[in-house]
Amino acid sequence: MTLTFQEAAQILKISPATVRNWLKAGVLKSTQLLHVKETKKNISSGVLNKLQRGANKHQSRKIHVHAELLSNKSNVTALAPLIEKYGKQKRELLLAVYLRQLVATGLVKYKSGKLVIGARLSAELSEWNISHQSPAFMRMYQSIHSLKADFSDNLLSYLHQSVNETAAKQNLGAYYTPASAVKKALKILDRPGRVCDPCCGSGNFLVEAYRQMKLENWPAAELSVFGYDCDPLAVLTARANLTLVSEGRVNVLKAIQQRDFLLNQPVEEFEYIVTNPPWGSYPSVSQTGRLQKQFSLKKTKDSFSFFLLASLQSMKRNAYGNFILPQAFMNVSAHAEIRRYLFSNCTVHSIEILSEKFSGVMTKSILISLQNKRPSTEHEVLIKSDVHCRVMNEEVLISKDCILPLHNDNTSLKVVREIESLSKCTLKGQSSWGLGLVTGNNEKFLFADPAKGRSPVLTGAQVFRFKQPISQLYCHSDISQFQQAAPLEVYRQSKKLIYRFIAKELVFAIDTKGSLTLNSANVLIPQSKKYSCEFICGLFNSKLAQYYFTKKYSSIKVLRSHLETFPLPPYDEELFVQIEKNVLKLRNSFDQQTADRIDSLIVKAYRLSKASEEAILNYEINRAFNP
Ligand SMILES: C[S@@+](CC[C@H](N)C(=O)[O-])C[C@H]1O[C@@H](n2cnc3c(N)ncnc32)[C@H](O)[C@@H]1O
Repeated sequence: MTLTFQEAAQILKISPATVRNWLKAGVLKSTQLLHVKETKKNISSGVLNKLQRGANKHQSRKIHVHAELLSNKSNVTALAPLIEKYGKQKRELLLAVYLRQLVATGLVKYKSGKLVIGARLSAELSEWNISHQSPAFMRMYQSIHSLKADFSDNLLSYLHQSVNETAAKQNLGAYYTPASAVKKALKILDRPGRVCDPCCGSGNFLVEAYRQMKLENWPAAELSVFGYDCDPLAVLTARANLTLVSEGRVNVLKAIQQRDFLLNQPVEEFEYIVTNPPWGSYPSVSQTGRLQKQFSLKKTKDSFSFFLLASLQSMKRNAYGNFILPQAFMNVSAHAEIRRYLFSNCTVHSIEILSEKFSGVMTKSILISLQNKRPSTEHEVLIKSDVHCRVMNEEVLISKDCILPLHNDNTSLKVVREIESLSKCTLKGQSSWGLGLVTGNNEKFLFADPAKGRSPVLTGAQVFRFKQPISQLYCHSDISQFQQAAPLEVYRQSKKLIYRFIAKELVFAIDTKGSLTLNSANVLIPQSKKYSCEFICGLFNSKLAQYYFTKKYSSIKVLRSHLETFPLPPYDEELFVQIEKNVLKLRNSFDQQTADRIDSLIVKAYRLSKASEEAILNYEINRAFNP
């Protein structure tokens, strides 16, 4: 049954214009009742965000539904018409909902169509700079007053996030933390002390910290919560949330202040800092330089690193810090400098790979627990993943780039370390590399048919293990006009390796046709007589390589640094020739027996222990990448 726009809008509690937009963006498949109901379900489960993610985030003005911030999911539907109607008056909307929550808790009275605000709250409310008795504001308030919603829920954080435009959120790194991750991070509070969130957003950590303090009967809980944020509306929202949870007992004007925590740190020092700082490169390039100088960093550009260092400066000696960071912290070379700093200067107690998903954020996250004291020489860091393992702090410090093991059980940790210790050679300095093309306009430059002036071009999806890739697309041969291109001779080599750039495993093939590649497929040309194209193809497609790559990086992108630092086995002519011959056999047709043979030969080349050999050969790799 097909509905009119009006009918679909009524069910979804959005305007007919939004129905039209959602159809265009693919968020709503059609106005058939079935699809409308499906989208309604997606709204409440938070799946809607995923569907909306496609757009270019830096320019996006779309509204993301952050259902993960709510305990009562029926509030998503209850608040949808408010967002629709008042989304552009965000500040007024937040204040009106806050006042409604204050009425629900009895802290403000609503009598004969008027709000009666006592002296205790008037200073805080006047900071909003909104005349809350004006007829326009009261009309908004009245429509909220009669709304059937659960006003005890985290509505302000939800609205602050959902109404914030995606581009603005990305610039401030302002994605707030789901409640379960906040609780995990606050498990650290084990004895009375002052807790600070230096970039508190809408105050999720502060509210939960206060709740815990009250539960544990901490003395002076009202004086123990501190928050800062540079976003003035976030500050007002955080204060509102803290007033609600403390029933007005905390002096929120003192506790939460607008402040750029990096440029202007408070004088106070804290016993605990618990936060999810902004991630991503610092928005202003000129300030990045200033912050690098301020924190004596040379290469670091990421906001979270500056926040870690600023937080350490605001932590008392021996104070505890819990930080939610992107998983990339553990193993991406761009974060090597901050890793080295932390492992040299702090006691990192544990790193937990979090299962929580932040809606609108693709990256996985971790929780790092540290203490502001130098690590002892025997100190071990606990890595909490599916299976827990421990690494010596010293071991992290002596490893190149201080890369941390990931998704490791103790066996795979041993195997990875064994591979690294038995091999001294890498491709660095004996290979050349090329990124695939970025045309800037695929519609204009890519074609399905060959013609004069066009060249075959390969994409990642056409690369399968071992098989000569066959292109199904053509592009302008004049690549100088494209946004990104390697020198033409890189693509035109008589023999080169091509690999998928976006993949959880390594997928390599040899191209002998001089094809161009798009940026989903990159180029590697080994330049060593010992490690030939065929050998590297066999190695990187092997079980051993998948084992090492996934256990060490768990990445969805295959970076040049991953491959350039991959430990190569010692040269053994006889063995290498056998591997090369088997690789050549698989060029035209794939057979599992030959692939298994290559796996055994590769393992043999590393001269590993029996236990490691077994772990690798029993490892299941993704066969979808075989042709
Ligand atoms: C990822 S959000 C986290 C908010 C809150 N900690 C939470 O997890 O719910 C990061 C916050 O950092 C704030 N922020 C960004 N740069 C800042 C700075 N230099 N000083 C203080 N706050 C900042 C943003 O406004 C945003 O609210």
